Formats: sequence, structure tokens, C-alpha cells
Amino acid sequence: MKKLANKVAVVTGGNSGIGLATAILFAEQGAKVAITGRNQQSLDTATIEIGNDSIGIRSDVSIIANIGSAYQTAAEKFGKIDILVVNAGIYIPGPLADYSEEQFDKTSDINFKGVFFSIQRALPYLNDGASVIVTSSSLGTMGIAGVSAYSATKAAVISLAKSFSSELADRAIRVNILSPGPVETPIMTRDGATPEQFEQAKNYLSAKTVAGRLGTSEEIAEGFLYLASDDSKYMIGGELLLDGGMRIK
Ligand SMILES: NC(=O)c1ccc[n+]([C@@H]2O[C@H](COP(=O)([O-])OP(=O)(O)OC[C@H]3O[C@@H](n4cnc5c(N)ncnc54)[C@H](OP(=O)(O)O)[C@@H]3O)[C@@H](O)[C@H]2O)c1
Repeated sequence: MKKLANKVAVVTGGNSGIGLATAILFAEQGAKVAITGRNQQSLDTATIEIGNDSIGIRSDVSIIANIGSAYQTAAEKFGKIDILVVNAGIYIPGPLADYSEEQFDKTSDINFKGVFFSIQRALPYLNDGASVIVTSSSLGTMGIAGVSAYSATKAAVISLAKSFSSELADRAIRVNILSPGPVETPIMTRDGATPEQFEQAKNYLSAKTVAGRLGTSEEIAEGFLYLASDDSKYMIGGELLLDGGMRIK
């Protein structure tokens, strides 16, 4: 029996990396899947990979006024939403002394404000009993130099999941967090890192884990499947940490 048969799922940032692997796994498990992102080309190629009649909706989570129409499109095609993965995010590292207001605002607008309003604007389109999952990061409760603004946004969403779970209890909507450790995805090269810089970052991050390697998007997708399905029905406002032991090292 497929774990997500007859379910409708929306994955924000579903056209790349962790979100794409999750959308593929959800479709394999029977869900009808809508993905969002800003890049039309990768939305188109991703929906082919995902299959099962999936749709790609161009939507920027930092343009709050437009978020609702993405859910409306998904609900018109598939019906109301049972699973919402709030995963879209960006990574702009930089030391405290040099971090610009523009970098801060961009990080905050997408990774924090974008998450708050991605959940708020979904409310009319969510079924009672829906599972909402937000992608945080193992960095959300660590104190590593050079990633403070990013880490703080990931801490903020852990707080949101707890508050929202209480607030949405009357509709039995549970909101949980999945915190990945370092995972090899395009996020690491989006700021134009050279192959050498990427290798350096990969070795540095691998050494920060007990596992001694980066995770894969497919390993993280298995965690989203657990949180999306009824297997996790007693988990509410909680955090699933899949970080190769980064937090304990
Ligand atoms: N990879 C890691 O090591 C790691 C570790 C911990 C947590 N995470 C988190 O995991 C999530 C997914 O990241 P990833 O590693 O899979 O990176 P990725 O491959 O770069 O994926 C990021 C996704 O977010 C979308 N996105 C970014 N800004 C957006 C916006 N304003 N509106 C809508 N969509 C937007 C991107 O699509 P478009 O470019 O088309 O908009 C893309 O689909 C992020 O929240 C990230 O912080 C990643």
C-alpha cells in the first residue's frame, strides 16, 4: 500500500535539491504533487521527473501577495491540500562584520517571512488534519561562525512550528520541522562558488559530521515522507534531525 495514496501535496522549492527529491518520493508513494519555485525552466523539467500528473507553479515566497494564488492553482487541479512542505530557502553565508543589510533582508524575507506567510496563506486551502513540514537546518540551534543570519532564520522557523501547531490544533493540522545537516545540493554553488571552493566546502562540512560525509537529498526525502504520512501522527510541533551527527560532534 502506498503511504500517500489519495493525498495532495505542495512542495515549495520543489524544482531542485531536497524539495525535488521529496516531490519525487511523494509521487512514487501515490500523492498528487504541485511544486513551486521561481525558475520556470527547472519547474518544467522537474515535473517531468516527478511524473504522476505533477504541476509546477511559478511563485516567489518573498512576494507575499502572490503566495495564495499558487495554492489556489494546486487546489483547483487536485483538490484541497493534505501535505504542505515549506522548503524554499536560500543560503547566503558571510561574517558578521561584512554582512550587508541587503543580504540580511533577502535571507530573512525568504527563509523566515516567506515561511510564516507560506503557511498563513495556505490555511484556506488545507484540509483539516493536514501535515505541514518546514525545512529548517541543523544550524538552527548551533553557533557556527560565518552563517549567523541564515542560522537565525532556521531557528525562527522551529519556533513557528511550535506556535502554529498549538494555534491550529482545532483543525488537527500538525506542523513539524525537518532539520537536515549538510546535503549536497545546488544551494552550495548558487553564489558562484568555483569547483575548487565547492570541494573545499564539501570537505569542511563532511568533517563537521560524525558520518564523515554529506547527506543526500534522497536520505532527507525519507524524513519528509515520515512526517507527511500518518506514521508520524503523534508528532506535533516537533523536530526531526537528519544531520549525520553534526550537532553532537
Ligand atoms: N543543502 C543543505 O546542506 C541544507 C542543509 C540544511 C537545510 N537546507 C534547507 O533545505 C531547503 C532546500 O535547499 P536545497 O539544499 O535543496 O537547495 P536548492 O537546491 O538550492 O533548493 C532551493 C529551492 O528553493 C527555491 N527557492 C529559493 N528562493 C525562493 C523563493 N524566493 N521563492 C520560491 N522558491 C524559492 C529554489 O527554486 P528557484 O531557484 O526556482 O526559486 C529551489 O527549488 C532550504 O530551505 C535550505 O535552507 C539545506
